[in-house]
Amino acid sequence: MVQTRLLSNDGAYAAVFDLGDGTVVKAYRRKYTTTFALGEWSDHEAIIRATWANEVRAYAALMAADPDLCNFVPRFYGHCDPLDLISSAVIGSLRLVSGCGIRLERIDGRAAKLAALDDDLREAVTRILWRIRGVIEPGNVWDSSCFVPGSRAEFTIIDFALWDGVDDYSEPLERRGYLLEHQRAELQSLGGVDEAAIAMTQSHADEYQAPE
Ligand SMILES: Nc1ncnc2c1ncn2[C@@H]1O[C@H](COP(=O)(O)OP(=O)(O)OP(=O)(O)O)[C@@H](O)[C@H]1O
Ligand SMILES: [Mg+2]
Repeated sequence: MVQTRLLSNDGAYAAVFDLGDGTVVKAYRRKYTTTFALGEWSDHEAIIRATWANEVRAYAALMAADPDLCNFVPRFYGHCDPLDLISSAVIGSLRLVSGCGIRLERIDGRAAKLAALDDDLREAVTRILWRIRGVIEPGNVWDSSCFVPGSRAEFTIIDFALWDGVDDYSEPLERRGYLLEHQRAELQSLGGVDEAAIAMTQSHADEYQAPE
């Protein structure tokens, strides 16, 4: 097992672990997706899983569509199960959702939300985010954060693919306390990832090979 440490636990959705080999794992947490602590855990977890899958798909779509644009985001090393990669001592009491990890290049420095950037820089980042948005739709790019300087460009953008379908499921869950069968079936399919498409992104170019 590699040397890991918790890098951030401030995010709304995820804990991020430094794997000590130049990569991190963004590990989605189990949490209530409703304002009140209501409803079946399995329904909340299905919403989280769909949110994770949306981000995995966004990275894969970006890599397939536009390698140049990929210079503005961390290298993507596929999805993973954080519970397999990180020891329970490091995970501690964090309630991670099994299977819902994303392995990314580790970016040095501190990430800032768009609103915290200087005007000129925010404009430059915004131009890139419009291009990213065109590739990853559906997805909300505007809650992303930015490292300045970036690892392969002036800046590196993370968290650019917030799933905008959360409310479609969290609102009925809050109203009723559980989801209907058709909603559960939809979430099940939204929470799946296309393994072949992900594998393709990993074999695209040498620089995208996952580190040992
Ligand atoms: N590739 C990375 N390299 C280094 N640090 C990272 C990386 N990805 C995420 N982090 C760290 O983890 C934090 C949370 O990551 P991220 O924004 O993806 O999660 P989130 O749960 O969606 O958070 P938020 O509530 O800010 O939207 C970032 O602010 C940053 O400090
Ligand atoms: Mg986020």
